[in-house]
Formats: sequence, structure tokens, C-alpha cells
Amino acid sequence: MVTLSINGNARTVDVPADMPLLWVLRDVIGLTGTKFGCGMALCGACTVHVDGRPMRSCVTPVAAATGKQITTIEGVGETPSGRKVQQAWLDLDVVQCGYCQSGQIMSAAALLASKPHPTDADIDAALAGNICRCGTYVRIRAAIKRAGG
Ligand code: FES
Ligand code: FES
Repeated sequence: MVTLSINGNARTVDVPADMPLLWVLRDVIGLTGTKFGCGMALCGACTVHVDGRPMRSCVTPVAAATGKQITTIEGVGETPSGRKVQQAWLDLDVVQCGYCQSGQIMSAAALLASKPHPTDADIDAALAGNICRCGTYVRIRAAIKRAGG
């Protein structure tokens, strides 16, 4: 059994210690806002926060997240930076197909929490691992600037 703290709630699940956190979140707990893209830490669709840091949940064993605070897209709106990011995303109509967007928002929220007024270089560095096949990068950058403004 593994006990996790997810979006402020304790959840105990009966899973192997090496099961990827993404599998636990989506398939065991039912939090499907976090997406599966590549399963190899290459696309960023599965990004969650573990103790406030962006992590690729597809390659994070659930055991590595026990005893830590896990935040997913379902809970990030309760954080100050997540709330600002989500509002800016709506204001600028960032989303196209949407598949990558929870990962983008999680990376953006983590960036703003550590750097409230990021430069273009900060944004590029923080979101370099989040791939958008729809090419929403220009709007993503503008929304992060707006959220940080
Ligand atoms: S699904 Fe985790 S980085 Fe692509
Ligand atoms: S909005 Fe479609 S992949 Fe990013």
C-alpha cells in the first residue's frame, strides 16, 4: 500500500512501488486531467508538481512521490500561480486541441511560483520540454507574461 497526498487529500492505493505516478493518478485514482503522451519524459503532457517542482509523472515511480505534496491540473487552480496561469490561458484563448495543455499549465505555474516575472529566456527554458503539436507556443508565452504581469 502507498499513501499519497494529492491536491491536499490523502489517498491510499494498493499499487506496486515502481508503478509510474501517471498510471496511479489516471488509472487507479481517476484523475484523468494529466495526460499520457510519450511515456518517456519527452513531451511533458504528464507534468505534475511534486513538492512544487514540475515532474514527468510517466517516469516517476509512485514510491518517489510518497510523503510529498503532489499537485495535478485538477488542483493547481487552488495555488496562487496556478490561478493566475489558468485565468491568463482563458483570457488569451491559448488552447487548441488541448492535449498538451495541462502539462503546459503545470510547467508554467511552477515557473511563476519560482520566478514571478519571467523573461522570454526563462519561459523558453522552463517549457522547453513541453511539446505542443498544435503550435500554441506564441500564445503560451504571452499568457505566462500576462500571468506574471
Ligand atoms: S507522457 Fe510523460 S513526458 Fe510524455
Ligand atoms: S494544443 Fe494541441 S497539442 Fe498543444
